[in-house]
Amino acid sequence: MAILKIARMGHPVLRRRADAVADPTAPAIRQLVADMIETMEDAPGLGLAAPQVHASLRIVIFHVPAARAAPGEPPAGLTVLINPEIEPLGPEQSLGWEGCLSVPELRGVVPRYDRIRYRGLDLDGAAIEREVSGMHARVVQHECDHLDGVLYPQRMGDLRLLIFTSEMRYFPAADGAEEAS
Ligand code: NI
Repeated sequence: MAILKIARMGHPVLRRRADAVADPTAPAIRQLVADMIETMEDAPGLGLAAPQVHASLRIVIFHVPAARAAPGEPPAGLTVLINPEIEPLGPEQSLGWEGCLSVPELRGVVPRYDRIRYRGLDLDGAAIEREVSGMHARVVQHECDHLDGVLYPQRMGDLRLLIFTSEMRYFPAADGAEEAS
């Protein structure tokens, strides 16, 4: 196990489309994911995508603790999702604050689909398919964007709402957005 260096905005690995994982059960993939989990917990963050640790592979990990889930929504346990695909369930989008471990010290308001279905594989190669909403849906969309070379500021509609975390006191709605992914 190891805590990995996190790539920051500007590094080319964050701009390229990551490669599909040929064998999710390969020992090297299991080792990478173990290190990603340790890195995410150390940061700490809600999620992490493999390109953020300089591995240009289609792997994301995330969790949504109860304290971060929207009212009435279930938390999400730690999930490893390999070669994920996302499908919006309806056109509705909502604005919400996001941070990113690759864009440190900043937060921004980002539109995301309210409800999505996602599919992927776990470390045993077994299929995962879920329909989710709220923070769970937001985190998955944020992480999967990393696999296509997209960082959240590129999704923002109003760059006046790209702020330093030190100024979050001026944006009460940003409370609870302390964690990045
Ligand atoms: Ni991120």
